[in-house]
Amino acid sequence: MKPLAIKNSWVLVTGASTGLGRASALRLAASYQAKPLIVGRRLDNLRELQTEIDERFNVPCEIIVADQREIEGREKIAAKVAELQVTAALLVAGMTSVGSFDAGRADTYAEVIETNILGFTDLLARLIAIFREQPFESSVIAVSSLAGETSVPFQAVYGASKAYVSTLMRALSVELAGTGVSVGSFAPGGIDTDMAALSDLKWGRLGLMDVDRCAARAVRALVYRQSFAIPGMGNQLTYLASRVLPRSLVNRIAALPYRRP
Ligand SMILES: NC(=O)c1ccc[n+]([C@@H]2O[C@H](COP(=O)([O-])OP(=O)(O)OC[C@H]3O[C@@H](n4cnc5c(N)ncnc54)[C@H](OP(=O)(O)O)[C@@H]3O)[C@@H](O)[C@H]2O)c1
Repeated sequence: MKPLAIKNSWVLVTGASTGLGRASALRLAASYQAKPLIVGRRLDNLRELQTEIDERFNVPCEIIVADQREIEGREKIAAKVAELQVTAALLVAGMTSVGSFDAGRADTYAEVIETNILGFTDLLARLIAIFREQPFESSVIAVSSLAGETSVPFQAVYGASKAYVSTLMRALSVELAGTGVSVGSFAPGGIDTDMAALSDLKWGRLGLMDVDRCAARAVRALVYRQSFAIPGMGNQLTYLASRVLPRSLVNRIAALPYRRP
């Protein structure tokens, strides 16, 4: 598919206060001169990113402080997207919970499901409705995870929520064909961010992908309107292996990086 022209256009990036979202906003400004519309709950982080984008790249950047779990937050995002005539959206916001399933608490699981599934779905529907009305083409990439392509013992609810994201985006990429709105999912393995640090992995940062490298691939998937992308050869091989090996074996291998509580 023809790459989307995003130079001087507004691009929505959720989850921009840290990690992959932050690095993607920087990449959009640095390599494409696209104007990031950045979202998160932590205003200080977003202000710092806005200043960095201005000072390093002289590119406009706007902030939305919003909680994806709250309807008011999603309404605020959608209103700004319509006002600025945003061309593309990189939906990065997400959260995890780590540990034995039965040791988890209802409120933690609710938070993961409300952020990664419920809030995400409503926001996505609002964005697609806006994009379909605009007289130009647009692109949406939702960040899922390799965890959504296999299963993830000790991060089970998170993995299940990312499987939801992948399946949804796959269906929508067909449903929206020919509308001018392209959608897809981006499935990284471990990335060297706060979230991976939270996951308390047995081998520490070993094998985690550099966040800037991952962001470059995510932005590329957005611009090239890919329906599914996995960054990095190692992750691609892992994905292929997970498709051919017996499921029971794949599930056991997926548990290896975690310290057993
Ligand atoms: N790190 C990994 O190993 C890895 C691997 C595969 C996929 N991923 C996916 O990559 C994405 C980015 O993760 P990351 O590694 O960059 O983690 P991160 O640094 O923890 O970033 C998560 C971002 O999501 C935002 N967020 C969380 N809950 C939110 C809410 N309710 N409303 C609005 N924003 C919210 C956070 O901002 P505020 O707290 O300021 O709201 C933050 O900017 C996630 O979707 C994650 O599932 C990560």
